[in-house]
Amino acid sequence: METPELIRKKRDGLVLTKAEVFDFVERFTRGEIPDYQASALLMAVYFRGMDRGETADLTEAMLRSGRMLDFSTLPVAKVDKHSTGGVGDKTSLIIAPAAAAAGVLVPMISGRGLGHTGGTLDKLEAIPGFSPRLSYQEFLRILEKCGLALGAATEEFAPADRKLYALRDVTATVESIPLITASIMSKKLAEGIDGLVLDVKTGTGAFMQELEHARALATSLVNTGAAHGKRVHALITDMSQPLGNAVGNALEVIESVETLKGRGPRDLVELSRELTAHMLLLGNVTDSLEEARARYDSAIASGQALDRFARVVEEQGGNPRALEDYSLLPHALYKDSVVASADGYIAGLEARVMGVASMVLGAGRERADAIIDPAVGLVFEKKMGDAVRAGDTICILHSNDRSRVPRALDMIRGSIVISPDPVSPPPLILERVLHSEGAVVPPDRIVEF
Ligand code: URA
Repeated sequence: METPELIRKKRDGLVLTKAEVFDFVERFTRGEIPDYQASALLMAVYFRGMDRGETADLTEAMLRSGRMLDFSTLPVAKVDKHSTGGVGDKTSLIIAPAAAAAGVLVPMISGRGLGHTGGTLDKLEAIPGFSPRLSYQEFLRILEKCGLALGAATEEFAPADRKLYALRDVTATVESIPLITASIMSKKLAEGIDGLVLDVKTGTGAFMQELEHARALATSLVNTGAAHGKRVHALITDMSQPLGNAVGNALEVIESVETLKGRGPRDLVELSRELTAHMLLLGNVTDSLEEARARYDSAIASGQALDRFARVVEEQGGNPRALEDYSLLPHALYKDSVVASADGYIAGLEARVMGVASMVLGAGRERADAIIDPAVGLVFEKKMGDAVRAGDTICILHSNDRSRVPRALDMIRGSIVISPDPVSPPPLILERVLHSEGAVVPPDRIVEF
């Protein structure tokens, strides 16, 4: 079909065939469809949507545009986790080694942070010497040896996504559930996994700010996994305030290692434990969520999760001594405090603003090619619901460039809300969407499969 016909078909709300979807993706990736026509089709998809079958076909076409990893020679279940992105979200550094210690293989391929959200690769690269750039053979060797490998998404994975995402970014077509689904799932399915746990964030710091949209995305992701024969569980989790206490790369490494040592902050521990437990269910390590949580607890308490992390850091060129002696990690020169202006309870610590303030200090990138400073960021001493007295420290800014501090301080001060009345912290795990049923169940009710 000629490209204008394809655009017209979607514009008029009709369903594209698998052959049409593949033809578009293949020709666009080869550079045979000009951006103006691809943009028109993306906008038609944005307004008209895609049904389950079209979304699965788009995912497959994008997946097949590049290289796929194959770990089928390894006899243990391969399970990964993906987050839709947040502020202070360092769970990958905790759950990859914890899940590996508890018995699944974790071939994790991560990206870098952009805008107010952080990226796993940036955090890992704060460890001196650590490199996520691994050949396939190195990745496989480390996966076999450590039970996990932590790689970088390269040009070889789903190149169609790279091209399409760049176009979506400049044509206001990023916020489309089928396009986001195909973008995420094409990259994740290329990892050769058997199962995937998704952390779909909602709240001010999330891509999907409304619960309803997060639920629709989670359902679409789970359904698309099922269409490809993969078991996918999605947790919808709160991102209205930063996760844990630290935001910024080396600061988040320290908090992750502390969590692996059993000393993590309550919310980070809760989410890491729950995501790991779902990975263990998908990997058939156990068939009960309660037992899976106990496996996480014992991987932490025995030190095995920390040991796995130290091993993978060393295998990937990093200095494992930095996990014991934090002075070996990058440190910022200056610290400034934000204090409570009144007695009361913390009612707001807006995640998006905190992410942008951290980016302003240099911890994140405004543009994809910006250079980041691994040492800088924020550490919160109070979180939502905590009682404060006037003058108490709420947040400490770690900086190296004094000229950036006033703007970050203003942003943080402007987004902290103190209420005179007690405030309940928001629940962290809001809903779960499990496997192929696409059924949304409230926390602590699990659909059997
Ligand atoms: N993350 C992705 O990888 N792709 C999207 O389209 C949106 C978020």
